Amino acid sequence: RTVYLNGEYVAENEAKVSIFDRGFLMADGVYEVTSVLDGKLVDFEGHAVRLDRSLSELGMKNPITKDELLAVHRELVTRNDVVDGGVYLQITRGAPADRDFAFPDPETTPCTVVLFTQSKPGVTESPASKTGIKVISIADERWGRRDIKTVQLLYPSMGKMMAKAAGCDDAWMVEDGFVTEGTSNNAYIVKGNKIITRALSNDILHGITRAAVLRFAQEAQMEVEERNFTIDEAKEADEAFITSATMFVNGVVEIDGAQIGDGVPGHVSKRLREIYLDESR
Ligand code: PDD
Repeated sequence: RTVYLNGEYVAENEAKVSIFDRGFLMADGVYEVTSVLDGKLVDFEGHAVRLDRSLSELGMKNPITKDELLAVHRELVTRNDVVDGGVYLQITRGAPADRDFAFPDPETTPCTVVLFTQSKPGVTESPASKTGIKVISIADERWGRRDIKTVQLLYPSMGKMMAKAAGCDDAWMVEDGFVTEGTSNNAYIVKGNKIITRALSNDILHGITRAAVLRFAQEAQMEVEERNFTIDEAKEADEAFITSATMFVNGVVEIDGAQIGDGVPGHVSKRLREIYLDESR
């Protein structure tokens, strides 16, 4: 693969970053994952806007303009012949001369910008999209600024491993009795055709797919309610599903061993997935 590192296109095994990079030492950086369908970027604009927000919340200046960023995304997709897959982008606070908790001076320590592509042929027809996924619930033990898309992903990774150990696909995280989100996706339930999902706050990532899907739902005259829900309420729901740039809209058919609906992806999530994929291609 050809990857992008600080202004240059290089072979992936030639892309080198300092051991003093704050992304490596302190998880001091942010990222975005933009999906590619039929060679086209999905919702690039939304990801670019969220990137700017994440950077500014962390007191970082975006080192690359939106137009340049779009050009780099497109160039990598072309060079790596990505049809279906995605582009990963990461910006860290760079590599100061030594390890220090205080932020380095941005004038002398430029940010590190990395982009690479991931090809996923047939991603829209994945087995998980047909069968739906099984989730477990776990406590949400992440920090309090989940609205910032930082590379600090240890707890979500642990959550995935807990799910795997339980024979499941993912974990829904719970705080103060209410579901926040999945380890790398937003969480929804459906009751009597009403789509219910947690409202935006610092407690969850403001999903770009979430924004698109809720817009499509409203355009299709589907009812949406943004409010908290519990695992018990989810177990009793007619349907459950998740959204993310990598999974699009995907049914959830089991929560903590309890079957949801008929145990297959429900009609609301299937319809939303269809609309989302149609609109994205
Ligand atoms: N994850 N919530 C969390 C905690 C996430 O990490 C993600 C995305 C989402 C969905 O956001 P979006 O619709 O913008 O992809 C929600 C990406 C895909 C990842 O970490 O790979």
